[in-house]
Amino acid sequence: MTDNADLAALIRTIPDYPKPGILFRDVSTLLLDGEGFRKTIDRIAAMVATDTQLIAGIEARGFIVAAGLSYALGLGKLMLRKPGKLPGEKIGIDYQLEYGTDRIELHKGQVTAGQKVVLVDDLIATGGTALAGIELIRQAGGIVEQALFIVDLPELGGAEKLRAAGVEPTALIGFDGH
Ligand code: PRP
Ligand code: MG
Repeated sequence: MTDNADLAALIRTIPDYPKPGILFRDVSTLLLDGEGFRKTIDRIAAMVATDTQLIAGIEARGFIVAAGLSYALGLGKLMLRKPGKLPGEKIGIDYQLEYGTDRIELHKGQVTAGQKVVLVDDLIATGGTALAGIELIRQAGGIVEQALFIVDLPELGGAEKLRAAGVEPTALIGFDGH
């Protein structure tokens, strides 16, 4: 993993949130910094596989990363949404979150068979969210071999789970001591 200490310094750590002993890595402070966000997107964009056809972002914070990459690379973006937001025909998947359960949904027909899709999110912790996104895109016929994040919390094992699912995860910053 590249160092990216300049970007790591822009991420705020809030201790004991949402429960005692947890260090919450808050990217909102990085997003407030225009130059920091530009560098974040530029550095992630440089890692996107050249045969990528679509950028998939997971609601909510993943949309910010997906929008930046979509603009930088001139690629379309696909929204993986929380439940109850999509008006058209959809497929969905429930998943385990670090603190509870959730569900994401995808409009039918917005991924085409064999399309090369890169999944992006702000952060990977347990990997439950990213794995659900990968599974959903694959159900829709897309090919996912790469996932990109601003932050990885390696102690929570999410990146390993993605590798086991045949997806190469890369994050700009790794934080220990979660
Ligand atoms: C957070 C984060 C990732 C996910 C990572 O999203 O943005 O999407 O958790 O956790 P995991 O690897 O353990 O699944 P969350 O749903 O909490 O909030 P958001 O809607 O603000 O993105
Ligand atoms: Mg999220």
